Amino acid sequence: MSVPLIARFRDQLPVSEATPVVSLGEGSTPLLHAPRLGEVLGVDLWLKWEASNPTASYKDRGMTVAVSKALEDGACAVVCASTGNTSASAAAYAARAGLQAIVLVAESAARGKLIQARALGARVLAVRGSFDQALAAARELVQRGDHVLVNSLNPNRVAGQQTAVFEIVEELGAAPDAFVLPYGGGGNTTAYTQAVRELALGSAVHSVEAADRPRTLASAIRIEHPAHAETVGASGAHIHPAADEEIVAAWLELAREEGLFCEPSSAAGLAFLRASDELRGARVVVTITGHGLKDPGAADFHAPPPIVVDPDPDAIARAAE
Ligand code: F0G
Repeated sequence: MSVPLIARFRDQLPVSEATPVVSLGEGSTPLLHAPRLGEVLGVDLWLKWEASNPTASYKDRGMTVAVSKALEDGACAVVCASTGNTSASAAAYAARAGLQAIVLVAESAARGKLIQARALGARVLAVRGSFDQALAAARELVQRGDHVLVNSLNPNRVAGQQTAVFEIVEELGAAPDAFVLPYGGGGNTTAYTQAVRELALGSAVHSVEAADRPRTLASAIRIEHPAHAETVGASGAHIHPAADEEIVAAWLELAREEGLFCEPSSAAGLAFLRASDELRGARVVVTITGHGLKDPGAADFHAPPPIVVDPDPDAIARAAE
């Protein structure tokens, strides 16, 4: 039976006995050793596969806490701005809690995420503008008092996301030399660096952003002005840019070498490891943040199309060569 994240980490989260637990069975995700890819990259490589969360991204870790607290506080509706994954997660947990979810999605949000939010009953508003503009509008709406913001500016989200670090350390039985993860708005980097500090792990945190933030094909991290930039800047995290070609190469390599199909943004950490030998020989945990089915358009563009054949074994054998 899956244990709700809030039940597993109750003592480390801002919840009490009075907090109603809104759970979909999040957290406790696989930590996969990847010795073959690790050898190519020159590190002892471990992959934290966050796509196995209920809505197929790491956002569910923070959302279970944020929505549970919103319910405890008597909220009727939650709101978020999103490049897609936060909206899918907010829609799911709001539905589970019986709350309304309003999600403001950036024009560029990937198709799979939009479909999730729509199917899950959220009021999906496609904002004519960037993620930054959508977030500014959501924050203003919240000022009016009727909605709870469930973006990572909500500290309950960051608290929940720290649990990925707790799980990794528990499973490895020790702190890794480094955590490597993508950097969009910076909520997850904030969570990881806080957890590393609070547990006095001594691990480095490497956060990888798109070199061309406003235009990257990695739509989940297409954010020009990260909301957590100041905190991330002061956190001690090492920030690295990755070009789109490097992200795509890392993304395809992960799928083909290790069988993990993530969305392009999720491979940003691996793109850094491919480009740099800074962590050579180290024990490194790379967080793979979201599932590949979230962004079918990217896979459609970069993966070979099916070969059309007759239902004939000779034709199939020839085509399979
Ligand atoms: N990876 C994925 C798959 C994401 O969806 C995001 C952010 C990130 C990495 C970056 O994490 O923002 O904490 O630095 N997605 C947000 C969203 C912005 O709206 O779904 P971050």
